Amino acid sequence: MVATSPAVWTKKDLIGIRELSRAEIELILDTAPQFLAVSKRVSGIKKVPLLQGRLVVNWFHEPSTRTRTSFELAAKRLSADTLSIAASSSSSVKGETLHDTLANIEAMSTDIIVLRHGCAGAPHILAADHASHIINAGDGRHEHPTQALLDAFTMREALRVQRQDPTLSLEGMKVALIGDIEHSRVARSNIHALTRLGASVTLCGPVTLLPAGAERLGVSITTQMREALADVDVIYSLRIQLERQSRGLFPSIREYVKMFRIDSNSLRFAPDDAIVMHPGPINRDLELSTEVADGPRSVILQQVTNGVAVRMAIMHLLANSSGASRVRKP
Ligand code: NCD
Repeated sequence: MVATSPAVWTKKDLIGIRELSRAEIELILDTAPQFLAVSKRVSGIKKVPLLQGRLVVNWFHEPSTRTRTSFELAAKRLSADTLSIAASSSSSVKGETLHDTLANIEAMSTDIIVLRHGCAGAPHILAADHASHIINAGDGRHEHPTQALLDAFTMREALRVQRQDPTLSLEGMKVALIGDIEHSRVARSNIHALTRLGASVTLCGPVTLLPAGAERLGVSITTQMREALADVDVIYSLRIQLERQSRGLFPSIREYVKMFRIDSNSLRFAPDDAIVMHPGPINRDLELSTEVADGPRSVILQQVTNGVAVRMAIMHLLANSSGASRVRKP
């Protein structure tokens, strides 16, 4: 399939990958390298003035280290002013609605709101009624679009270097997502991004952690690691989200580790050059062994590095594209 990038970005917000076309995803991936170069400057200032005078607000209603700091750094490297609001210290604990809180923040002339919220759909509801550009930094079990974009970018970069092909795309690449798919917004956004980019995706985990009806998303499903890892280019391990489980969904941790952990034992099923990824935070030695997480196949820290550049690209496209209207929907 031949990709054609649109000349300009036209969306006001980034709510989910599901709403993006292949060309829009590729536009973001192709915009990121210039920002990676800014972050990697060894001498000189790691900053560009593209968001100078704009206000970016990080509004996080759930715990986060990586995503929050990544967005904050991305905004600062674009020279924006930044504010952080944590849910525990915001007026939501006094009963104020999300709409009212946002209307008050917006009265101080905000440009971009980065929202993480435990309720699926919260960013979508706010985006429809407010003029700021809304970026979804994870909503419940629904989507985590910037994570999937930084993941696709990292896969493409790592495989381009490994295969010595600077134009390699993810078309035809095989990616296995392993572990707690059911509770994972990262898995959902990755499924949308990777299938749209032409990769083939296999989901693998205990049957209780595989979402019902996932076949409809155009992926293969198995409970056998041997089957999932055969011929893969990318192994993507997911965190067991114990905080989102209301009841035990597998008999014991020991059993889970034996059947689904990515370690030197399970890697015997995979090709030698398959790369290993994880969105973090890692439950070390539960879903991923320390030797693999810190080993030569792992690109986990590259995901973190690339995350800043991809988020810079997204904020730049949203705030500076002539087509990205800030007019609210009626
Ligand atoms: C993910 C999240 O919060 O959804 N982490 C992240 O953003 N880096 C994945 C997870 O919590 O397991």
